[in-house]
Amino acid sequence: MSVEQRTQVGIIGAGPAGLMLGRLLSLHGIDSVIIESRSQSYVIDRVRAGVLEQGTVDLMHEAGLAERLGRLGLRHEGIYLAFNGGRHRIDMTALTNGRAITIYGQNEVIRDLIDARVAAALPLHFEAPAVAIRDIETRQPVIEYEMAGERKRIRCDFVAGCDGFHGIARSAIPVGVLQSYERTYPFAWLGVLADAAPTSEELVYSLHPRGFALFSMRSPTVTRLYLQCDPDTDVTAWPDDRVWKELTTRLSTDDGWRPAEGTITQKAVTPMRSVVSEPMHHGRLFLAGDSAHIVPPTGAKGLNLAMADVYRLSLALHDFYTTTRTDLLATYSTRGVRRTWAAQRFSWLMTSLLHRINPDNPFDYKRQLAELEYLVGSRAAMTSLSESYVGAAFD
Ligand code: FAD
Ligand code: PHB
Repeated sequence: MSVEQRTQVGIIGAGPAGLMLGRLLSLHGIDSVIIESRSQSYVIDRVRAGVLEQGTVDLMHEAGLAERLGRLGLRHEGIYLAFNGGRHRIDMTALTNGRAITIYGQNEVIRDLIDARVAAALPLHFEAPAVAIRDIETRQPVIEYEMAGERKRIRCDFVAGCDGFHGIARSAIPVGVLQSYERTYPFAWLGVLADAAPTSEELVYSLHPRGFALFSMRSPTVTRLYLQCDPDTDVTAWPDDRVWKELTTRLSTDDGWRPAEGTITQKAVTPMRSVVSEPMHHGRLFLAGDSAHIVPPTGAKGLNLAMADVYRLSLALHDFYTTTRTDLLATYSTRGVRRTWAAQRFSWLMTSLLHRINPDNPFDYKRQLAELEYLVGSRAAMTSLSESYVGAAFD
């Protein structure tokens, strides 16, 4: 016989979506249990996103988790686009009535959320993979999971599938109900983290004849950099000196700017894909974050979309528990899908603008340069890009 627990919301996954949902629910007085297949250190150490939209920063404040963010986060009011040897700044804050982005590593967000959950002594189980989700078309769905060699069950009112792209929640929505739209790109990103002081105060997105490169950072002493590469790239073929040579070639501009080199502490290849799964809700199961959608990282939207999802879901659940109304739950998916496609549009635009698509045919490269020239010369075009980059308010 398996052990059974009871809670209001069973949350699968302790990434940004699951942990933030648990936090927001607790502030509304709603109980939850979070289960996570990986260990606590794995979840904290995984190097991923770094750009927080204003809406995500505001949410961290609302969640009472902005102390370290306020101290360590780096507010950025612009970005650079580099091409043809030039570096062009887009003043996003001036173009969006004062909105900005903040650089604060996803690991730091995760650390803040885990610390708050542990301090509040709320249930959060690591190394506890969900293996089945049952009865989502009833009022008492069940999550089955494994922990320390035992099979356990959580009986709840709602299941939140916050288990990322490789989780099990999405597949609990019946075939025939779930529609997926997918695009895989013919390139990937080789990302490195380096102990090197950033030489630019703001991000630099570069289109170079040898491919895309991105200069980003995590702190005044840590630089984060990416190179467009083949999807089947083996990191062992990229010793540090090759990485620096390629980064310097693709990022240096005619004004003498270049990234500073330092010790590389992390190196990984990330595939690039776009996926949208609709609907994000079936019965008592709600998908949030990467379990429902993946965007290519060029638009820096993935973590922010996940946060917008759980904000919407927390309000809908709060409304349900205080008034028994279900209209916000019923529109959770349509509102989320609309935001997702807006993020897909922007991520696609940034990806296709900045990557070498067909290196054998220079037509596209020349067209991309013309597009970039137009962009940096047009206040209207820069405003449009800035609006999407800083992100729409959460609704
Ligand atoms: P995840 O972070 O994937 O969390 C899901 C969790 O569920 C995981 O911890 C997983 O272990 C767990 N899980 C899976 N299956 C189970 C199971 N069966 N049972 C229990 N637990 C399970 N986004 C941005 O907004 N800005 C950026 O700058 C940015 N840069 C990125 C750079 C890189 C290199 C990468 C890879 C991603 C980037 N992203 C960025 C995307 C962002 O990291 C993701 O969108 C974000 O992590 C999504 O959060 P999530 O909680 O939905 O999913
Ligand atoms: C990052 O700092 O990791 C980062 C920044 C911008 C992106 C993607 C990733 O578009």
